[in-house]
Amino acid sequence: MRQQVAAANWKMNLTYQQAEELINGIIHTPFTLGADQRAVFAVPFPYLTMVVEKLKGKINTGVAAQNAYTKTSGAYTGETSVEMLKSINVGYVVLGHSERREYFNETNQMLAEKVNTALAAGITPIFCCGEALDIREAGTQNEYVGNQLKESLFHLSADELKKIIIAYEPIWAIGTGKTASAEQAQEMHAHLRSVLAAQYGTEVANEISILYGGSVKGSNAKEIFGQPDVDGGLVGGASLKADEFVQIIQALK
Ligand code: G3H
Repeated sequence: MRQQVAAANWKMNLTYQQAEELINGIIHTPFTLGADQRAVFAVPFPYLTMVVEKLKGKINTGVAAQNAYTKTSGAYTGETSVEMLKSINVGYVVLGHSERREYFNETNQMLAEKVNTALAAGITPIFCCGEALDIREAGTQNEYVGNQLKESLFHLSADELKKIIIAYEPIWAIGTGKTASAEQAQEMHAHLRSVLAAQYGTEVANEISILYGGSVKGSNAKEIFGQPDVDGGLVGGASLKADEFVQIIQALK
């Protein structure tokens, strides 16, 4: 079975004390993760080490940065490299979140470079894609999101691609309370898998975890994650409450 992943994205929220309280709350709430299930926490840079330490020994959990630079070191004031992340045992990095694309002008080409740098460091990219409302309303979302994959990922070999997690996040559903319906999510995930299959073959495409993101909550996670091509979620707002995020973890297939 493909790996099923519940990934929390805390975004730019919480003080250190609140972050500590939240991760303690999660650790102290009982949950189980099967061999093919993962809970990943994408936390702000200043809290990475603390969360890595807290989750030590918590089986099948991981920690992610929310971004990393294209270069591995050098005179790039204010940036963080994947080598730095690796040196503090961070195993994942979220790349190309729509907020990074929109506010920090990240392009598909830049993300291709970031993906390469992360893979070279042995860090798993959680590669985000998704369309804005006007694209959905024009009915061109399949081409648009398919193209995001092509431009940022299709230079990879099949073995490299298999190390990537994809997160489909329709921008119109992020933080809006307006979730894509389970059917809409399934339709796009199946489309993305077919795009991957056309390039890499069905066997490879079937191994790639594709997460859904956009107003996932404790109350809707089971239905969304239950779709055949949805392999878990990338969760923003609802990941800031320990009980609710644990409920989301437990909704994984
Ligand atoms: O990375 C997470 C997504 O942007 C979804 O955020 O769950 O607050 O809608 P949200």
